Amino acid sequence: MQYVQAKVTQQTNFYGKHNPVDLIKKYGSPLYVYNERILRERCRDIKKLVKGPDFIVNYSAKANSNLALLKIIHDEGCCVDAMSPGEIYVQLQAGFKPEQILYIGNNVSAEEMKYASNQGILVSVDSLSQLELYGKINPHSNVVARFNTGVGAGHHQKVVTGGKKTKFGIESAFIPEVKDILKKYHLRLIGINQHIGSLFMDTDSYISGVQALLDVAAQFSNLEFVDLGGGFGIPYHKYQNEPRLDLAALSEKLSKVLTDWVNEYGKQVRFKVEPGRYLVAECGILLGNIHTIKTNYSTKYIGTDIGFNVLMRPVLYNSYHDIEIYRSSNAQSRNQEAVTIVGNICESGDIIAEDRKLPEIFEEDIIGVLDAGAYGYSMASNYNNRLRPAEVLITNHGDDVLIRRRETLEDLVRHY
Ligand code: LLP
Repeated sequence: MQYVQAKVTQQTNFYGKHNPVDLIKKYGSPLYVYNERILRERCRDIKKLVKGPDFIVNYSAKANSNLALLKIIHDEGCCVDAMSPGEIYVQLQAGFKPEQILYIGNNVSAEEMKYASNQGILVSVDSLSQLELYGKINPHSNVVARFNTGVGAGHHQKVVTGGKKTKFGIESAFIPEVKDILKKYHLRLIGINQHIGSLFMDTDSYISGVQALLDVAAQFSNLEFVDLGGGFGIPYHKYQNEPRLDLAALSEKLSKVLTDWVNEYGKQVRFKVEPGRYLVAECGILLGNIHTIKTNYSTKYIGTDIGFNVLMRPVLYNSYHDIEIYRSSNAQSRNQEAVTIVGNICESGDIIAEDRKLPEIFEEDIIGVLDAGAYGYSMASNYNNRLRPAEVLITNHGDDVLIRRRETLEDLVRHY
């Protein structure tokens, strides 16, 4: 097998004892492949983020909730955030204890709140009305509230979750109303949280968000924890040597801000962060077959089986993912050329990489879409009645293990 363009995966020995051609032969295409070592490394990196105050990492499982990956994250000592009863259900199966799960609900029903609280899982509410609802269901209990301090950040407008133009959180100005509802239902606010948005590489907005949240925290006297949110970015442009997020610099700034605040608050408070992408994006690659190469009105299209039912990010957010090329034949690429890599879905927006300069690609090559571990499989669908792919883990020993089977045609009619 030729690694035509594969510097990133070769440097990390991503495929262990295997190679992409063999993996596709064995498991079919398209295929999500994850590397256990990289996942564990990212868990360990982020666990070192805050030094001094008590600190815990709550993995935001919406990024990837494969059971095998959740088990590894649990094994690394992280806790977890859930966004739905479905996520809670899977997290419990993965071995997380109810007290290790925080249910961060958005516009949830009474039944959903009960599903969590009846199992001893803390619920974070993100509006006054949801706080009322929670109080009616569970008076005299502990609760968490999500605030929107007016600070937002993110790689695309659709994923900025803090600030004046988003549906999330309770505006800080409503703190008196929050206190009234707490009193009315004898609730104890033991934690507050926020999430300003997804994917920042520059940490200034995160720090401003933290400071704003700490100002909110100072107005409540019995907090046990303050959850600062996720959003830590990863370099998607690895072939252009994009630098990594400077976690050491962030750690230094953040640890100081938190330590100073705890000293003022006068009570030990545990801090949490909620990273999703940072833990799982780089441990995942999406492999796909190339079935067609054609030129339409001077654009060269590389037609693959990676439709946006399999990876939605490029279509939804115009997101960039680096592409690698693997080849089973001895054919040689003569030059670099600009190509547009597309999927097999019946929409013209079904583009994985537009106008990308790459070594000449041939039919039957395999492409690898890098950094696909976060919001890849978790956002996959059956659009066009396509099947969701299999997922394979390359273990610490370099072996391959199937961690979710490919869907079958029968799965498409299973619910009738
Ligand atoms: N906490 C809360 C409350 C969240 O809503 C999210 C993500 C996170 C934490 C984790 O954010 P992260 O560390 O992964 O940035 N589908 C989009 C990202 C959507 C993020 C939604 N919320 C994408 O593919 O870029």
